[in-house]
Amino acid sequence: MTLEPRDPLHAQLLELARDLAKQAGALQRERYETGLDIDTKISTIDLVTEVDRACEALIVEGIERRRPGDAILAEEGHGQDEEAAAIRWIIDPLDGTTNFAHGFPRFCVSIGIESEGQRVVGVVYDPLLDECFEAACGEGAWLGERRLRVSKENEVGRSLVATGFAYDVHRSENDNLASFRNVVKKARGIRRDGSAALDLCYVAAGRLDAYWELKLHPWDVAAGYLIVEEAGGRISDFSGGGADRAGREVVASNRAVHDELLGQLEPGSD
Ligand code: IPD
Ligand code: CA
Ligand code: CA
Repeated sequence: MTLEPRDPLHAQLLELARDLAKQAGALQRERYETGLDIDTKISTIDLVTEVDRACEALIVEGIERRRPGDAILAEEGHGQDEEAAAIRWIIDPLDGTTNFAHGFPRFCVSIGIESEGQRVVGVVYDPLLDECFEAACGEGAWLGERRLRVSKENEVGRSLVATGFAYDVHRSENDNLASFRNVVKKARGIRRDGSAALDLCYVAAGRLDAYWELKLHPWDVAAGYLIVEEAGGRISDFSGGGADRAGREVVASNRAVHDELLGQLEPGSD
């Protein structure tokens, strides 16, 4: 079995999102380790490459051709956004740009879709492993023919946990380091792999038991949130409240270790 949403609109949206994610992923595969034009954004460690921009243009043009009128929030600024639109696409054309730019093989395309403000479809495509993580509202999370389920681990002490650090880490006091220290001292292992969207999918797939990060953006999490939720996981902010759609405080887990992990996290402010 593979994911085939019963709702015809969701099925149509998923098919388009999957197709565009795979096209953009193919471009990333072609351009990987080929020498790139690299620019910086908000800080010297916040990179953007010509491939980020080309992937975004490809995805946005594909949506505009097939579904003119849908709103599009895309990281590099293509497309026309409208928060109140009936259908809204939220796109990270290349999540893991630092990895991509350094030839570290961990990056992906992330496409989330909301209908009337509800998350309905999520697709995250890892082009090097050819893994396409998908979810549709009420239809589960899938990796090809495999239905994804979060792990059953119920102690942080036996958990593999991932995190990340924001691009302002050199200058901000709210740098995640206190939480990082707490979790390093407690968990079985910790990873900082550099792709928030894949970290979320790995929680869904049970490869990670939990993941947290500060100061992400909607495009980092729009697809991954739905994939985690549909795999039976929990998403919250650092206080245990509902999922923070803006991505400023992200905690994702298999549910069973969620509260214990929250106890280790120290939200800062800035
Ligand atoms: C980044 C990655 C990274 C996370 C950063 C994100 P980008 O996205 O997801 O893992 O730690 O906070 O901004 O810039 O590669 O799309
Ligand atoms: Ca990103
Ligand atoms: Ca990106």
